[in-house]
Formats: sequence, C-alpha cells, structure tokens
Amino acid sequence: MSKPTATPADRVFLITGASSGIGAATARRAGAEGWRLVLAARSRERLNTLADELGGPERALAVGCDVSEWGDQQQMVEQTLAAFGRIDAVFANAGFGGPRGFLKDTPEHWREMVLTNVYGAALTLRATIPALTSTRGHLLLTSSVAGRRALPGSMYSATKHAVTAMGEAARQDLHGTGIRVTLIEPGMTDTPFFDNRPTDALADDDIARAVIYAVSQPPHVDVNEILIRPVSQQG
Ligand SMILES: NC(=O)c1ccc[n+]([C@@H]2O[C@H](COP(=O)([O-])OP(=O)(O)OC[C@H]3O[C@@H](n4cnc5c(N)ncnc54)[C@H](OP(=O)(O)O)[C@@H]3O)[C@@H](O)[C@H]2O)c1
Repeated sequence: MSKPTATPADRVFLITGASSGIGAATARRAGAEGWRLVLAARSRERLNTLADELGGPERALAVGCDVSEWGDQQQMVEQTLAAFGRIDAVFANAGFGGPRGFLKDTPEHWREMVLTNVYGAALTLRATIPALTSTRGHLLLTSSVAGRRALPGSMYSATKHAVTAMGEAARQDLHGTGIRVTLIEPGMTDTPFFDNRPTDALADDDIARAVIYAVSQPPHVDVNEILIRPVSQQG
C-alpha cells in the first residue's frame, strides 16, 4: 500500500513537550519545513504563544496535555484529527530529570518522573499509532545518552533506558505497517531541563535538526537511532 498522498504543507507533526527546549525548537524547525503542528504540553500559555508565532490555528494547534493522563492523550489525538484530519509524525518528547543518588530524590518525584517519561511516552504511542498507521507515518521518541549508558544513582537514566527499549520494541511491533521509528538520544543540551544551565552543551536546535533529518528521508529509509553529544562531553 502506498502512503496516502499529502502535500508537504498538509503533513501534520504532533510534538509532546512542545512548550520548551527540544520540543519547541523542533516545532520551529518543522514549521519552517512546512509541517502543520500540534503542540502539546501542560503550559497552555506558552503553547498558545508558540502556536501564534508559528502561524496560528491554521498551521499550529496548541493542546493542553499531561502525558501521564490517558484521557488527556486521547483528547489530544481527537482534537488533532478534528482540526487537521491526519497525523504524519509524532515526537514523544515530554520528560524531565531529577537529582542523582538513590537516597537523594523523593519517592513522589520518582513516581511523577516514571509516569511522565515512561508511562507517558507509552500512552503517546498507544494514542497515536492508529492515526500513524493510516498515514504510514513516523514515530520518534526522546531517549537520551542516559538511555544508552547508566549514570550513577540515576532513576532518570533508568527511565530513559526504558524509552530506548520502547522505541526498539515499537519498531519491531510496527514492522509491516510502514511506520518508521526513530530514537533521538541527546547528550547534554542547554534547555530548562537543567536548573543550572550547562555550558559547552548542545543547543536545542542541534537536536531539532536531527529530528528533521530523520523525518526527511525517503520512505524506504528508517533511521532508528540518533545519538548526539556535544564535543565537550566524554561520558
Ligand atoms: N536537555 C538535555 O540535556 C536532555 C538530554 C537528553 C534527553 N533529554 C530529554 O529531552 C526531552 C525534552 O527535554 P528538554 O531538554 O527540552 O527540557 P525542557 O525544556 O524542560 O522541556 C521539557 C518538556 O516536557 C514537558 N513536560 C514535562 N512533563 C510533562 C507532562 N507530564 N505532560 C506533558 N508535558 C510534560 C514540558 O512542558 P510542561 O511543563 O509545559 O508540561 C516541556 O515542554 C525530555 O524527554 C528530556 O528527558 C534532554
């Protein structure tokens, strides 16, 4: 079955964690490449401002969504299909970190982090795979260098290993559907992820360009993983 034809200007890119950092930078890059955008996160005001910047409701839809809530994820997809009628690419990117050390962080913060980084990403896949199947679309997930090597005392690293496994599990599960799956694995990137902003780090746009690379390949090319470190990062 060939991919239903969509002009580049019709294609729809849904991004979770779009209110800030890597997600917002990817929205800007994808908007410049002609994609229509769905911007999802909890901070409605920031999403509305970004949606206005990226062309308003015809081109960019802001959707409030806590990714750890299945009902929110379902209404995110319903709103997208009502507004744009299709989804061609999904970037499951929402997530956050926490202090290292198994006695440092609180159990409550761990719970929130696991529910966002792991369960939330899984819910995004579950909510969007039916729409992606009908477009033979593209699924991307933000893992991390920390999802490839364990960091000392890091529950965050454990959540990102789960995301790496989820991407590979989804790739195999979706074999035969035409859906491509890409894990984006950033090294240290200067975003509000960090309370103390890093120096000599990647910029959010460095990761956004990697996302655009993955979604710009011909239909037979499936870029499965992109791991990017700043030159300054050893581990
Ligand atoms: N910065 C780095 O060095 C780095 C490296 C590797 C991987 N990553 C990963 O990259 C992704 C993006 O992070 P970033 O660096 O761009 O940080 P960021 O600027 O803090 O962005 C995080 C985004 O996730 C959203 N988010 C958090 N919890 C959410 C929830 N429950 N529901 C919906 N959205 C939620 C935030 O929006 P709201 O608060 O508005 O909901 C925000 O848009 C994360 O998965 C992170 O783990 C970052």
